[in-house]
Amino acid sequence: MSANTPVAELSESDAKAELARLAEEIAAHDARYHGEDAPAISDADYDALRVRNRELEERFPNLVRPDSPSKKVGASASSRFPKIRHAVPMLSLDNAFSDEDVEDFIARIRRFLRWPEGDPLAFTAEPKIDGLSLALRYEKGKLVHAVTRGDGTVGEDVTANARTLSDIPVKLQTKTPPDVFEVRGEVYLGKADFAALNAQMEAEGKQAYVNPRNTAAGSLRQLDSTVTASRPLRFFAYAWGEVSALPTDTQMGVVKQLSDWGFTTNEMMGRSEDAAGLIARYRAIEESRPGLDYDIDGVVYKVDSLALQKRLGFVSRSPRWAIAHKFPAEMATTILRDIEIQVGRTGALSPVARLEPVTVGGVVVSNATLHNEDYIVGIGSDGTPIRDGKDLRAGDTVRVYRAGDVIPKVIDVDLGKRPKGSKPYDFPTVCPACGSDAVREIDLKTGRADSVRRCTGGLVCPAQAVERLKHFVSRNAFDIDGFGEKQAEAFYEWGLVKTPADLFTLEERDRGSLTRLKNRDGYGETSAANLFAGIEARRQISLSRFIFALGIRHIGEGNAKLLARHYGAIDALIAAMDVAGEEESEAFKDLIAADGIGKTAARVLVTFFSEPHNREVTDALLSKVTVEEAEQVAGDSPVTGKIVVFTGTLEQMTREEAKAMAERLGCKVSGSVSARTDILVAGEKAGSKLKKAAELGVTTMSEAEWLELVSGS
Ligand code: IVH
Repeated sequence: MSANTPVAELSESDAKAELARLAEEIAAHDARYHGEDAPAISDADYDALRVRNRELEERFPNLVRPDSPSKKVGASASSRFPKIRHAVPMLSLDNAFSDEDVEDFIARIRRFLRWPEGDPLAFTAEPKIDGLSLALRYEKGKLVHAVTRGDGTVGEDVTANARTLSDIPVKLQTKTPPDVFEVRGEVYLGKADFAALNAQMEAEGKQAYVNPRNTAAGSLRQLDSTVTASRPLRFFAYAWGEVSALPTDTQMGVVKQLSDWGFTTNEMMGRSEDAAGLIARYRAIEESRPGLDYDIDGVVYKVDSLALQKRLGFVSRSPRWAIAHKFPAEMATTILRDIEIQVGRTGALSPVARLEPVTVGGVVVSNATLHNEDYIVGIGSDGTPIRDGKDLRAGDTVRVYRAGDVIPKVIDVDLGKRPKGSKPYDFPTVCPACGSDAVREIDLKTGRADSVRRCTGGLVCPAQAVERLKHFVSRNAFDIDGFGEKQAEAFYEWGLVKTPADLFTLEERDRGSLTRLKNRDGYGETSAANLFAGIEARRQISLSRFIFALGIRHIGEGNAKLLARHYGAIDALIAAMDVAGEEESEAFKDLIAADGIGKTAARVLVTFFSEPHNREVTDALLSKVTVEEAEQVAGDSPVTGKIVVFTGTLEQMTREEAKAMAERLGCKVSGSVSARTDILVAGEKAGSKLKKAAELGVTTMSEAEWLELVSGS
């Protein structure tokens, strides 16, 4: 029997086994889709699994399992929602974990704005709701779209479901509605409603839900909106996206307006003018937390003045003008069963704790990161203690928490409960996946060993190759429909896809192959065709995704976007890397002048492109895919796409602010003048750069002229 054997041909015992397999597999996909927002298979394949499950149950009604996917209302997403692009991206918030972080946040803002000492600067403080964010677009006062956050750029259209929430008005309560107003806020499930829902599930012999947040997310993404309507979801409005006009000029004022339009806003929102005031509000909200009927996980502070918010702008994916002050994480005690090593895409050997499952903050945790060798080992082989070391051993009683409420970590060990005869953990010095030596590089400057032990196997290490593939197809990289982590492992093992470029020859090779994909386990005619279509759809790719997909150390999504914007085209990037070998070279200076690219990232990037095997992989890929030129931001400013250098003392804004503003308008801000520079903005006491610009014939202007030029943007 295989996963493709027609239902009509299955014996009863085969059917029983198949139903068990389907229940497990569908539940796993549901968990990924609902819980982690990261589906591993295409919609079509997912649907095929559910259809097969239904057909089997129809043929063998006596075999219907108590945990059958057909019985779970919470996971009946049998298809997915249309995608909608956010007119204004939905960003996340930076976190503060201590009072000191809050003071730093305020100091940073004052510095950025050059706000005179002693002058008041107001902030709002409000609870951070633990739900999921939703954007509601109103045109002429009528609700036209409700879109989930998704990846921040593109979300899912859940309009029909959102209409069922009583906290979401379908019409704004005003006679003079704005042309466009996108209200943003948090959908959540109250604690009492969650408990009642679970009581009902239990009474019906069904499995209970894990926590209110995931249940709210699952409930909002039901295909059948009558199911959403049956769940008492609620909504707090606290922000906005695209708007044709703002009703007032403060955060507080707009939230008041939202309330007047018929939204529920949080009554604990208040204003303060310094860190002490904000922290006092934080303590008060923290104290009220247990008595609230909804989960909150911190307090959000925002600069109250919208004009200042605009000046402050954004860094990468979060606003400079807001921060989330998180509540301390919940802890739990459990047993460390074992320590295992995972090999990552850059060869890093990462130790993972296998734990006796335990609930932490409403989520069952059975694995936790152990960071690196020093974190676990505690005592060096020569008997000397090692930095950070906890001397963790299998069998230990440990305390765990979820860092930033997400990643489980081991915080400490209870030595009093250590079993007799336990042995210190020996960190492997060879790669468990390929047997190559695993070493800790020595930093030539400091003479210290790197905290990470890395496999030296490079291309021969299968674990690294598979991890690189997984990264390559991941959501913010090539994001290939129907090819997730599971497929990366299977196709690698089958020998079908060893490097990223192999994906793009898969269909062609499959045509000439004796073992066609459609005949392999888990595949059929349709799913194979769907996979090929999914790959084909990605033959053209944005520059930033392409750069990110290469999986270069230190080049995450943010840096990939910066590089895309800075170089514009893949050829330009590679050509620049070829001549950036020397740190004194113009090309290297230009690279680190790309705001945000640090020296370490720059060096790693140059090294990456100088290694022949990386070039082979990249070239092979480039011969199969088309990389789009990078989009310019804010297309209609007169300075969009220009390379700008600021020099001298600026009077009306700080250098940092000037840079941020220029970038918002789509400029590339560089630190040095070259023939490529378009504009030099020279403040007071400008020196050598001004001279060089004059020599090169670069357009030069004063700060006032610059502000005049961009004033309309
Ligand atoms: S303001 C530009 N205010 O927290 C940032 N967010 O970690 C706009 N959240 O995605 C967000 N309560 O889903 C804001 N009172 C609140 C919030 C809040 C919860 C969520 C929101 C956001 C996430 C960021």
